[in-house]
Amino acid sequence: MDDLRAALHDVADRIAAYREELPTRQVVPEVGRSDVRRLLPERLPDDPAPLDVVIDELTAAAQPGLMASAGPRYYGFVIGGSTAPTLAADLLTSGWDQCAYNEALSPAALAFEDVAGAWLKDLLGLPRTASVGFVTGAQGANTTCLAAARWQVLNRYGWDVGRDGLTGAPRVRVVAGAERHATIDRSLRLLGLGESSVVEVLATAQGAMDAEALATTLAGLESGPIIVCAQAGNVNTGACDDLIAVTAAAQAVGAWVHVDGAFGLWAAASPSLRHLVRGAENADSWACDGHKWLNVPYDCGYAVCAHPDVHATALAYTASYLTGQVAGHELGGGDFVPESSRRARGFATWAALRALGRTGVENLVDRCCAMARRFAERLDALDGVEVVNEVVLNQVLVRVGDEALTADVERRVQASGTCWLGATTWRGERLLRISVSNWATSVDDVDLSVEAIAQALAAARA
Ligand SMILES: Cc1ncc(COP(=O)(O)O)c(C=O)c1O
Repeated sequence: MDDLRAALHDVADRIAAYREELPTRQVVPEVGRSDVRRLLPERLPDDPAPLDVVIDELTAAAQPGLMASAGPRYYGFVIGGSTAPTLAADLLTSGWDQCAYNEALSPAALAFEDVAGAWLKDLLGLPRTASVGFVTGAQGANTTCLAAARWQVLNRYGWDVGRDGLTGAPRVRVVAGAERHATIDRSLRLLGLGESSVVEVLATAQGAMDAEALATTLAGLESGPIIVCAQAGNVNTGACDDLIAVTAAAQAVGAWVHVDGAFGLWAAASPSLRHLVRGAENADSWACDGHKWLNVPYDCGYAVCAHPDVHATALAYTASYLTGQVAGHELGGGDFVPESSRRARGFATWAALRALGRTGVENLVDRCCAMARRFAERLDALDGVEVVNEVVLNQVLVRVGDEALTADVERRVQASGTCWLGATTWRGERLLRISVSNWATSVDDVDLSVEAIAQALAAARA
């Protein structure tokens, strides 16, 4: 026990030191995957190692290969950095080592998911009666919600997909925007619906689903099971579908509406941005992430469903040895997710919301958007640089030149260590892509980063 106590203090010191360095250390790792691998014994050692040796070897090999993605100048993908309360709660979660399958396994884990889930629905403007599954991320949430959708739309046509699978089932059509996130397609593969079930709807210039094109598409479909996949927050532009129009058109033909709101649904937490996701509350299911904009440590996402019975029918299971999984038990935990044993994610989400409060979440979302707008204004002012998207949320797309120049600037910015951003292809063009999702990103961070981009551009042009 003394060993454990000493080791935990040591680890806490190491974590604190790492995080204190985050704002000033270079963002890109010092070494690559093969360099880290070389530092580790190739052959499994025969003998046990003491705890302090394990921790020493682990940190010495891992730290040079860590990306400072938890820090304030990481703008790749859509990545949040955990806040102090969520990190602390997550460390407690590991220490308590609870299995959040059901109440018999951990009353606390289930209760915190209940309360955190209710707070999330309140913040995101979703129905109070909806069910919430705490999953690994938006990929898990999309898959979970679409499993519920699949069950329901087939059930309406007299088909029990849980019992009979998909062989011989009525064909399910999934109507989705041309700029949907790629995880939707993976979910459809996993669910046996297949990528060819997608009926693609034209996107607007900003990447939202074109509501008129949706109405035309739906009118042209034969009656049958239909799922409409909408989106709040395009991964490149941040654009949100017109969810009032989309949900109305979809519901007119009896479709299930799923909203992929991995990060964009957080707009609902800000009075100044809420209009972007108005109508979301009319949908049947929603995917949202904790590890993106709420800045909860990896991994954490939410699968929210307006129909708890459908959600549980599609996902839940039981077995004779599973204490607590009796008929009529209060649903929750493993009933709403595709896993059985899993991490107690409610603690960290609860800590995030308890620490921030309603106004804190609002400020977090607003601040990231303000930083994104600052990026856009300052970059747009550079010679030969143009921001190509409407910066409605936290995403910025930047044209610096042709494909080769863009790749060169991207590489130079990353190598500078000042900040990290990636590139994307948007409307056939390679562009730099910036996502501001970290609670700590400040005006100074943006200005330093703009300077680094300007220098990389000048060097690439030289
Ligand atoms: C709109 C959207 N959906 C889904 C995902 C996948 O999220 P995750 O990586 O949490 O599974 C992302 C990731 O950026 C996203 O932006």
